[in-house]
Amino acid sequence: MSLPKINPTKTEAWKALEAHFQEMKGLQMQDVFSKNPSRADRFKIEWQDFYLDCSKNRITDETLSLLINLAEEVKLKEAINQQFSGEKINETENRAVLHTALRNFENMKLEVAATLQKMKHFSEEIINGSHKGFTGKAVTDVVNIGIGGSHLGSEMVTEALQFYRNNLRTHFIANIDGDDVAEKLKNLNPETTLFIIVSKSFTTQETIANASVVRDWFLKNASEADIEKHFVAVSANVKGAKDFGISEENIFPMQDWVGGRFSLWSSVGLSICCAIGFKNFEALLKGAFEMDNHFKKEDFDKNIPVLLALFSVWYNNFFKAESEAVVAYSQYLQKLVPYLQQAVMESNGKSVDRNGKKINYQTGTIVWGNVGSNSQHAFFQLLHQGTKLIPTDFIGFSEPLHGNSYNHNILMANFFAQTEALWEGTFAKKVENPFKNFEGNKPTNSILIKKLTPKNLGSLIALYEHKLFVQGIIWNIFSYDQWGVELGKTVANDTLNAIEENNPSLVKNSSTEKLLTQFLKKLQ
Ligand code: F6P
Repeated sequence: MSLPKINPTKTEAWKALEAHFQEMKGLQMQDVFSKNPSRADRFKIEWQDFYLDCSKNRITDETLSLLINLAEEVKLKEAINQQFSGEKINETENRAVLHTALRNFENMKLEVAATLQKMKHFSEEIINGSHKGFTGKAVTDVVNIGIGGSHLGSEMVTEALQFYRNNLRTHFIANIDGDDVAEKLKNLNPETTLFIIVSKSFTTQETIANASVVRDWFLKNASEADIEKHFVAVSANVKGAKDFGISEENIFPMQDWVGGRFSLWSSVGLSICCAIGFKNFEALLKGAFEMDNHFKKEDFDKNIPVLLALFSVWYNNFFKAESEAVVAYSQYLQKLVPYLQQAVMESNGKSVDRNGKKINYQTGTIVWGNVGSNSQHAFFQLLHQGTKLIPTDFIGFSEPLHGNSYNHNILMANFFAQTEALWEGTFAKKVENPFKNFEGNKPTNSILIKKLTPKNLGSLIALYEHKLFVQGIIWNIFSYDQWGVELGKTVANDTLNAIEENNPSLVKNSSTEKLLTQFLKKLQ
């Protein structure tokens, strides 16, 4: 059965939300809040190690119930069940969407369990040094070669879980920028480096080109026969990986039903597994599994991903907020935003609905942000006093990992203070100087988590995966394809051809032609 194809703007709930928005848009919510002492309790959710405070949102009980009506009218519950049961909800690619099956510890598919075992065995040999390189030395460095979903999740998680890491060094080669590849190779020893080529398709230009450059570099010191000790592949295209020279037992499979940007839970996470060990990798998966269950079973009004998605739709489609920020008060989560940017924007950056019709309402939000407290000294001015409404998720942890409570208290005081300052502003105070006036009323969600553990990180990532799915269902778009990146790839191939032929006139556009002429001049 295909996903429901309901235009959200034609629902009763949408019309009611439009009317409700007229009452809400001018409301100073600080006032509403101060008159209701139980509001903070009303709009909070406690779940496992998570405490979500969404009381600092421009919502009332009525907003929430109308948003939930919207979710029901677009048949969200049915869509969730369709996804989890493996129906081919990625219709435009005729695929099921089952990243949740990669972490389903209640009912694990045999092929998933077998891949996990292979990852466990292999990563243990790399970590304990029993896997030897071509000169008999143990591996010291692991390099992930891959881009997009074959890079961002693994890099984000290995960095986020740095505290749990062993002594292997991990590196990521993603960009086709040869300078970056050269910089990365500069400090590597071919005798002690393992390369993991990660590409679901095994046709991605950047990855294949970079892998070839790396192989040539390796072969300057070693022979073809040594490749099997230093190169493994993660791919759904076994033939492609074999043609590249990777032996069959060194290929970690990927399934067709796992989308690139949702694949860190699969063998794409092999570099994570090497960096933090299988036990921690498994805990990451278990955390995601817990969130899956919460998402699948909890009522919408207590369902964290559903609520965050509904608030986001409320701001995006009614307040016309174009973007939302994510600010984690943890340096470890430095790469969370780039990871979310792919997950969210590659999924929901669509302008054709599930009926194939051009959409006349706003879809995918722009996600941006950085870590706190650094961001306070960068873009927070705009959040506080700019003209744009930017709902922001604040993410923080109750416990620091290294026990430095002096710094941690300052860090978290800033987290709490910022959400309060954004919300309260200088409301109810007489501020004569207009430059020092803060309107407040700026919405935030506070996601306070006990501690940054592999399990809690798994839950956090799964939360955002489910949030974007809910948004896609409401907007009546297909979140799991990414046709938008294809045109650029084709044009890049034609452009490369023009460069290699030294013939700028082969491109279509005269601006590009002139740029190429200039570029080729520089080369001569
Ligand atoms: O950017 C397009 C895309 O297909 C992403 O969805 C994907 O994560 C990335 O390219 C890499 O693809 P592959 O794993 O096939 O190399």
